[in-house]
Amino acid sequence: MSSHASSSGPEPTRRDMLSLVAISGTAIGAAAIVWPLVDSMNPSADVIAAGAPIDIDISKLTPGQQIVVLWRGAPMLIVNRTPAALKTLQDPSLVSKLSDPTSKVLQQPAYAENWHRSTKPEFAVLVGICTHLGCLPGYLPNPDPSTPAPNWPGGYFCPCHGSKYDLAGRVYAGVPAPYNLPVPPYHFVNDKTLRIGENPTGVVFELSTVVQM
Ligand code: FES
Repeated sequence: MSSHASSSGPEPTRRDMLSLVAISGTAIGAAAIVWPLVDSMNPSADVIAAGAPIDIDISKLTPGQQIVVLWRGAPMLIVNRTPAALKTLQDPSLVSKLSDPTSKVLQQPAYAENWHRSTKPEFAVLVGICTHLGCLPGYLPNPDPSTPAPNWPGGYFCPCHGSKYDLAGRVYAGVPAPYNLPVPPYHFVNDKTLRIGENPTGVVFELSTVVQM
Protein backbone atom coordinates (compact mmCIF):
# COMPACT_ATOMS: atom_id res chain seq x y z
CA MET A 1 0.00 0.00 0.00
CA SER A 2 1.80 3.09 -1.15
CA SER A 3 1.72 6.44 0.53
CA HIS A 4 2.91 9.76 -0.79
CA ALA A 5 2.80 11.30 2.68
CA SER A 6 6.29 12.16 3.79
CA SER A 7 5.86 14.86 6.44
CA SER A 8 7.75 14.46 9.68
CA GLY A 9 4.75 15.46 11.84
CA PRO A 10 1.88 13.23 12.91
CA GLU A 11 -0.32 11.78 10.18
CA PRO A 12 -3.50 13.79 9.65
CA THR A 13 -6.66 12.10 10.82
CA ARG A 14 -9.80 11.68 8.77
CA ARG A 15 -11.44 14.36 10.96
CA ASP A 16 -8.60 16.82 10.17
CA MET A 17 -9.01 16.21 6.46
CA LEU A 18 -12.80 16.55 6.50
CA SER A 19 -12.41 19.88 8.31
CA LEU A 20 -10.24 21.05 5.44
CA VAL A 21 -12.91 19.94 2.97
CA ALA A 22 -15.49 22.00 4.86
CA ILE A 23 -13.19 25.05 4.86
CA SER A 24 -12.57 24.74 1.14
CA GLY A 25 -16.27 24.30 0.45
CA THR A 26 -16.73 27.99 -0.20
CA ALA A 27 -14.15 27.87 -2.96
CA ILE A 28 -15.79 24.82 -4.51
CA GLY A 29 -19.15 26.55 -4.38
CA ALA A 30 -17.74 29.61 -6.07
CA ALA A 31 -16.27 27.42 -8.79
CA ALA A 32 -19.58 25.66 -9.30
CA ILE A 33 -21.48 28.91 -9.57
CA VAL A 34 -19.44 30.01 -12.59
CA TRP A 35 -20.73 27.01 -14.53
CA PRO A 36 -23.50 28.26 -16.81
CA LEU A 37 -25.15 24.87 -16.43
CA VAL A 38 -25.55 25.29 -12.72
CA ASP A 39 -26.30 29.00 -12.72
CA SER A 40 -29.85 28.80 -13.95
CA MET A 41 -31.00 26.54 -11.16
CA ASN A 42 -28.47 27.40 -8.50
CA PRO A 43 -30.22 27.40 -5.14
CA SER A 44 -29.86 30.16 -2.58
CA ALA A 45 -27.32 29.89 0.21
CA ASP A 46 -30.20 29.38 2.64
CA VAL A 47 -31.45 26.37 0.69
CA ILE A 48 -27.99 24.83 0.59
CA ALA A 49 -27.43 25.43 4.29
CA ALA A 50 -30.74 23.80 5.15
CA GLY A 51 -29.77 20.66 3.23
CA ALA A 52 -32.90 20.87 1.09
CA PRO A 53 -32.91 19.08 -2.28
CA ILE A 54 -31.30 21.03 -5.11
CA ASP A 55 -32.17 20.94 -8.80
CA ILE A 56 -29.42 20.93 -11.42
CA ASP A 57 -29.91 21.61 -15.12
CA ILE A 58 -28.06 18.82 -16.92
CA SER A 59 -29.31 19.62 -20.41
CA LYS A 60 -25.98 21.09 -21.52
CA LEU A 61 -23.76 18.53 -19.83
CA THR A 62 -21.95 17.02 -22.81
CA PRO A 63 -20.55 13.46 -22.92
CA GLY A 64 -17.36 13.29 -20.90
CA GLN A 65 -18.08 16.49 -18.98
CA GLN A 66 -18.34 16.80 -15.21
CA ILE A 67 -19.94 19.50 -13.08
CA VAL A 68 -19.55 19.93 -9.33
CA VAL A 69 -22.23 21.34 -7.05
CA LEU A 70 -22.46 21.60 -3.29
CA TRP A 71 -25.14 19.82 -1.32
CA ARG A 72 -25.08 19.85 2.48
CA GLY A 73 -21.60 21.36 2.25
CA ALA A 74 -20.16 18.43 0.29
CA PRO A 75 -19.12 18.35 -3.38
CA MET A 76 -21.46 16.35 -5.60
CA LEU A 77 -19.90 15.11 -8.83
CA ILE A 78 -22.19 14.79 -11.85
CA VAL A 79 -20.74 13.22 -14.99
CA ASN A 80 -22.19 12.48 -18.39
CA ARG A 81 -20.29 9.27 -19.17
CA THR A 82 -19.44 8.44 -22.75
CA PRO A 83 -20.37 5.09 -24.37
CA ALA A 84 -16.66 4.19 -24.28
CA ALA A 85 -16.51 4.92 -20.54
CA LEU A 86 -19.55 2.70 -19.95
CA LYS A 87 -17.88 -0.08 -21.90
CA THR A 88 -14.74 0.27 -19.78
CA LEU A 89 -16.79 -0.01 -16.57
CA GLN A 90 -17.85 -3.51 -17.68
CA ASP A 91 -14.39 -4.63 -18.79
CA PRO A 92 -13.41 -7.75 -16.80
CA SER A 93 -9.79 -6.55 -16.63
CA LEU A 94 -10.98 -3.46 -14.76
CA VAL A 95 -13.60 -5.21 -12.63
CA SER A 96 -11.01 -7.74 -11.39
CA LYS A 97 -8.95 -4.88 -9.91
CA LEU A 98 -11.77 -3.37 -7.85
CA SER A 99 -12.35 -3.81 -4.14
CA ASP A 100 -16.16 -3.86 -4.25
CA PRO A 101 -17.22 -4.05 -7.91
CA THR A 102 -20.84 -4.99 -7.17
CA SER A 103 -21.36 -2.40 -4.43
CA LYS A 104 -21.95 -4.85 -1.58
CA VAL A 105 -20.91 -2.30 1.06
CA LEU A 106 -23.60 0.25 1.90
CA GLN A 107 -22.16 3.26 0.14
CA GLN A 108 -25.17 3.93 -2.11
CA PRO A 109 -28.96 3.62 -2.26
CA ALA A 110 -30.40 0.33 -3.53
CA TYR A 111 -31.19 1.95 -6.89
CA ALA A 112 -27.46 2.45 -7.46
CA GLU A 113 -26.41 -1.11 -6.59
CA ASN A 114 -25.48 -2.01 -10.15
CA TRP A 115 -22.38 -1.96 -12.33
CA HIS A 116 -22.81 1.74 -13.19
CA ARG A 117 -23.90 2.73 -9.63
CA SER A 118 -26.64 5.02 -10.91
CA THR A 119 -30.21 5.15 -12.16
CA LYS A 120 -29.23 6.05 -15.72
CA PRO A 121 -26.02 4.41 -16.95
CA GLU A 122 -24.77 7.56 -18.68
CA PHE A 123 -25.06 9.80 -15.60
CA ALA A 124 -22.87 9.32 -12.53
CA VAL A 125 -23.85 11.16 -9.35
CA LEU A 126 -21.25 10.76 -6.61
CA VAL A 127 -20.07 12.38 -3.40
CA GLY A 128 -16.58 13.71 -4.19
CA ILE A 129 -14.89 12.92 -0.88
CA CYS A 130 -12.20 10.24 -0.74
CA THR A 131 -13.14 7.44 1.66
CA HIS A 132 -9.58 7.33 3.02
CA LEU A 133 -9.01 10.65 4.80
CA GLY A 134 -11.43 12.89 2.99
CA CYS A 135 -9.40 14.61 0.26
CA LEU A 136 -11.06 15.66 -2.98
CA PRO A 137 -10.31 13.16 -5.77
CA GLY A 138 -9.56 14.64 -9.18
CA TYR A 139 -11.59 13.79 -12.28
CA LEU A 140 -9.28 12.22 -14.87
CA PRO A 141 -11.40 10.44 -17.49
CA ASN A 142 -8.51 10.13 -19.98
CA PRO A 143 -5.21 10.12 -18.09
CA ASP A 144 -1.79 9.83 -19.60
CA PRO A 145 -0.86 6.11 -19.87
CA SER A 146 1.91 6.50 -17.28
CA THR A 147 0.58 9.13 -14.88
CA PRO A 148 -0.72 9.51 -12.27
CA ALA A 149 -0.92 5.71 -12.15
CA PRO A 150 0.44 3.28 -14.76
CA ASN A 151 -2.08 1.33 -16.85
CA TRP A 152 -5.04 3.08 -15.28
CA PRO A 153 -8.00 3.65 -17.64
CA GLY A 154 -9.11 6.75 -15.76
CA GLY A 155 -11.71 7.80 -13.28
CA TYR A 156 -10.98 9.59 -10.00
CA PHE A 157 -7.51 9.88 -8.54
CA CYS A 158 -6.87 11.11 -5.02
CA PRO A 159 -3.53 12.96 -4.92
CA CYS A 160 -3.20 12.74 -1.13
CA HIS A 161 -2.17 9.07 -0.93
CA GLY A 162 -2.79 7.74 -4.41
CA SER A 163 -6.20 6.09 -4.15
CA LYS A 164 -7.82 5.25 -7.48
CA TYR A 165 -11.51 4.97 -8.33
CA ASP A 166 -13.18 4.19 -11.64
CA LEU A 167 -15.80 6.37 -13.34
CA ALA A 168 -18.52 4.78 -11.19
CA GLY A 169 -16.65 5.75 -8.01
CA ARG A 170 -15.63 2.12 -7.39
CA VAL A 171 -12.37 1.96 -5.48
CA TYR A 172 -9.43 -0.15 -6.58
CA ALA A 173 -8.16 -2.92 -4.31
CA GLY A 174 -4.86 -2.29 -2.56
CA VAL A 175 -5.13 1.49 -2.27
CA PRO A 176 -5.51 3.43 1.00
CA ALA A 177 -9.21 4.24 0.46
CA PRO A 178 -11.34 1.36 1.78
CA TYR A 179 -14.73 2.02 0.20
CA ASN A 180 -16.42 3.16 -2.98
CA LEU A 181 -17.38 6.83 -3.24
CA PRO A 182 -20.84 7.37 -1.74
CA VAL A 183 -23.86 7.97 -3.95
CA PRO A 184 -26.30 10.60 -2.61
CA PRO A 185 -30.09 10.31 -2.80
CA TYR A 186 -31.25 11.65 -6.15
CA HIS A 187 -33.62 11.23 -9.02
CA PHE A 188 -34.37 12.78 -12.38
CA VAL A 189 -37.34 15.14 -12.31
CA ASN A 190 -37.36 15.09 -16.10
CA ASP A 191 -34.85 14.64 -18.94
CA LYS A 192 -33.19 17.97 -18.16
CA THR A 193 -33.34 18.20 -14.39
CA LEU A 194 -31.50 16.21 -11.76
CA ARG A 195 -32.63 16.59 -8.15
CA ILE A 196 -30.04 15.77 -5.49
CA GLY A 197 -31.28 15.17 -1.94
CA GLU A 198 -34.51 13.39 -2.81
CA ASN A 199 -35.04 9.70 -3.64
CA PRO A 200 -37.31 8.32 -6.35
CA THR A 201 -40.91 8.01 -5.16
CA GLY A 202 -41.39 5.28 -2.60
CA VAL A 203 -37.70 4.77 -1.80
CA VAL A 204 -36.11 5.55 1.54
CA PHE A 205 -32.38 6.25 1.71
CA GLU A 206 -30.41 8.67 3.86
CA LEU A 207 -26.83 9.57 2.95
CA SER A 208 -25.98 9.50 6.69
CA THR A 209 -26.49 5.70 6.69
CA VAL A 210 -23.51 4.95 4.43
CA VAL A 211 -20.55 3.17 6.01
CA GLN A 212 -18.19 6.03 5.27
CA MET A 213 -18.69 9.55 4.00
S1 FES B 1 -7.34 10.95 1.38
FE1 FES B 1 -5.79 9.47 1.34
S2 FES B 1 -5.94 8.62 -0.63
FE2 FES B 1 -7.56 10.04 -0.56
